[in-house]
Amino acid sequence: MKRTHHCNELRPAHIGQTVTLTGWVHSRRDLGGLIFIDVRDREGRTQTVFDPSDLPKELFERAAALRSECVIRATGKVRQRPEGTNNPKIPTGEVEVMAKELEVLNVADVLPFPVDDPEVASKVNEELRLKYRYLDLRRPEMARNLRLRSKVAIATRQYMDEQGFLEIETPTLFKSTPEGAREFLVPSRVNPGQFYALPQSPQQFKQILMVGGVERYFQLARCYRDEDLRADRQPEFTQVDIEMSFIEREDIYALIEGLLKRVWKTALNLDVPTPFKRISFEEALNRWGIDKPDTRFGMELVDFTEEFRASKFKVFSGAVAAGGVVKALNAKGLAGATQGQIETMTEYAKSFGAKGLAFIKVEGGEWKSPIVKFFSDTEKAALAQKLKIEEGDLILFAADQWLNACEILGKIRLYCADVLKGQGKLAIPADRFDFLWVVDFPLLSFDKEQNRWYSSHHPFTAPVAEDVALLKTDPKKVRGQHYDVVVNGVELGGGSIRIHQPDVQKTVFEEVLQIPPEETKLRFGYMLEAFRYGAPPHGGIALGFDRLCAILCGTPSIRDVIAFPKTAKGTDLMTDSPAAVSPRQLRDLHIEVKAAKKE
Ligand code: AMO
Ligand code: AMP
Repeated sequence: MKRTHHCNELRPAHIGQTVTLTGWVHSRRDLGGLIFIDVRDREGRTQTVFDPSDLPKELFERAAALRSECVIRATGKVRQRPEGTNNPKIPTGEVEVMAKELEVLNVADVLPFPVDDPEVASKVNEELRLKYRYLDLRRPEMARNLRLRSKVAIATRQYMDEQGFLEIETPTLFKSTPEGAREFLVPSRVNPGQFYALPQSPQQFKQILMVGGVERYFQLARCYRDEDLRADRQPEFTQVDIEMSFIEREDIYALIEGLLKRVWKTALNLDVPTPFKRISFEEALNRWGIDKPDTRFGMELVDFTEEFRASKFKVFSGAVAAGGVVKALNAKGLAGATQGQIETMTEYAKSFGAKGLAFIKVEGGEWKSPIVKFFSDTEKAALAQKLKIEEGDLILFAADQWLNACEILGKIRLYCADVLKGQGKLAIPADRFDFLWVVDFPLLSFDKEQNRWYSSHHPFTAPVAEDVALLKTDPKKVRGQHYDVVVNGVELGGGSIRIHQPDVQKTVFEEVLQIPPEETKLRFGYMLEAFRYGAPPHGGIALGFDRLCAILCGTPSIRDVIAFPKTAKGTDLMTDSPAAVSPRQLRDLHIEVKAAKKE
């Protein structure tokens, strides 16, 4: 069965050798009585030629009957391609194999979509690609993505090993600890009415490993979250999960910068400059309106609260009087937006809570806007100067409470950038990667509906030391020792220094998060107990491994770097899962199903 060479190997140096190739029929062309078959394997393609004057009739007919994607083994002599027939697009394009033998290892039915033409393949609807994922994986792009993912995983393991980390597996049949995303439950057969939960992350186990004296742990960990899915979220995904003892934030920054440097070098042969920039949560919101800023382009938010405090334009002065702010951004080059486009943008802003989206179009030397008539000369001068207003600009405003105003303009900024990219007015080089750390997050956020504080990240994050005293008096001022690593506007990972003192952890659970003591005991009792027996100071981080690979592959969707991803509805179209189970299985699990049957 053995091949002598793979299909990306033959060069003029092999001319005259007899070789055997195995693979798929990538394409077949019948020209001038000859049959040309491109054989493709994982590595590449090679042209084989079947000449009827040189072959038994039966063998030639077998070649003539081959359809795309049949699996074959062909043997023959390598020769120089005839003058003028070289294919410079493939590395084996100077040679071809004059077939002498052909074995059909398996035939292929007509495919539901072609895999040989990248143009056509890229337009195939994703549902079809997912249903026939094994065909989709044959496309060079998907094959490249999986290969890169494997390389990155290996580079990660090597780096972590060099840094003294142990790779340790933690259970994926865990216990329900509702916090953050919804969980997937697994019924227990031997414990009627009881359930495991699949872990959202190995957070608690990795902290317990620190109590267990492991000091440096990592894992390429599978995590499960039952949340609404988007391009950058899957119900099961992989983290590079890390935890260390006896460290401070700086140690994590240095470790991750080193890891990403290694990964970028391995995958893309690019040198990532370190250390990464650090930006506080507040600065990120103020300047880019988001806690994961894409700093590859400008269009930063500018504050005009003071300028409009006493303005005649009541929408602005009213917002300031109510304790809010006025912020604006300059979408350079978008003055040509039509009324309809501005309305669409306004509706978009309103869909996440904006009360309106005031604007100024700078066209024909004029400021065109329904609101400019309310502005004083001083106000106009301040706008012109701070926003560097020029012909062709579109200025957009948000007047609201600080966080709302920032977030609204942050979304509008990304929206405008997409429009400008579409118009060819904003070009970002494909090999530009803006890494940064976002730090000094608030430890807690307030849930107005439930009238209580909740953890911005998770309840194990330590407060900044000098803010601990504020926990009971002024929780909103407490900063967490949390950090996110961001690249090109994508949250790649996040982590924190943890609370390791049982009393502080108990205060956070019971007094700050107001979890009743009974519940704390039920859910986290084992952790609080573990911390009483000598817990080292510790901290860690988790990187989204799928997101990391998607960025390296230059694709916006993590589905493109996962061999068998799920759809936005959480289904696997190939195996048709989730699916109903037999009454007997349900009986064994002591489960009664009330939901209507799936169509
Ligand atoms: P966090 O919840 O921020 O932290 O997750 C860390 C990183 O995991 C990735 N990620 C996802 N990727 C794909 N699909 C999803 N549904 C999904 N959810 C998260 C993101 C994110 O930055 N235990 C903590 C880490 C720690 O504190 O050490 C945790 O899980 O890239
Ligand atoms: P109005 O006075 O409500 O007609 O609003 C005048 C303009 O200001 C319209 O373009 C609105 O979209 C815009 N606008 C209203 N409220 C706000 C706000 N809170 N922030 C920014 N623009 C607003």
